[in-house]
Amino acid sequence: MTARPVSPRDRLILALDVADLNEASILLDKVAGRVGLVKVGLELFTACGPAAVRAVRERGIGVFLDLKLHDIPATVAGAVKSALTHDVAMLTVHTGGTSAMLKAAAKEAGDHLMILGVTLLTSIGQDDLASVCLAGSPSDIVVKRATLAADCGLRGIVCSPNEVQPIRRAVGDRVAIITPGIRPAGAEMGDQKRAATPAAAISNGADYLVVGRPIRDAADPGAAADALVDEIAGALGTGR
Ligand code: C5P
Repeated sequence: MTARPVSPRDRLILALDVADLNEASILLDKVAGRVGLVKVGLELFTACGPAAVRAVRERGIGVFLDLKLHDIPATVAGAVKSALTHDVAMLTVHTGGTSAMLKAAAKEAGDHLMILGVTLLTSIGQDDLASVCLAGSPSDIVVKRATLAADCGLRGIVCSPNEVQPIRRAVGDRVAIITPGIRPAGAEMGDQKRAATPAAAISNGADYLVVGRPIRDAADPGAAADALVDEIAGALGTGR
């Protein structure tokens, strides 16, 4: 089980967004020992299933399984039960799934697995909300959903680095805050809209940063991970 991160490196989560086990192994060998956790997401898990989790665990790295579960409570509870057999540290559910679904996930996980609530994808901007029948600002929505998640017993929240402070004010230290949408200064934004630099995310109070393309697509992924850890350490005022 993953506790609060202790070192700057523990706070860095690589999003292993690759298509197959061969690509995964190549990237994992480059970053082993240089990131805290590895996030296995929809692309790789759909392609390879639990073998993707094993590839990460074989290298002694903890797994964040990012399946963003969103279904009826019984189905989500069943998926959490299955995830418990895969030796993963964190698993995501979507907070749009109502309190009954969130409570079912938290209950099934118990103390064995951190269930994280995804509030609003960081690729969604203000202009997208009306088209999916959501009213208010991204910030209003994520604070309400984060509060619901914490009240339902989830142990972490996934949100934009720009929303950490209002969420912390609403839920205090009850939950860990995990932020994707991280872009080092000058990096390509890709499809991310509510993004920030690693230093800004840490200064805002994020516990963990999820970084995919800025590491995966770097000429030297290991060096890119080290530079991110250095930036995190700088923002915390500690050594690596
Ligand atoms: O490549 P990049 O750093 O943008 O990758 C971000 C990762 O975080 C992706 O794996 C994406 O699925 C995930 N994520 C996100 N926004 C959320 C939740 C997860 O970008 N709200």
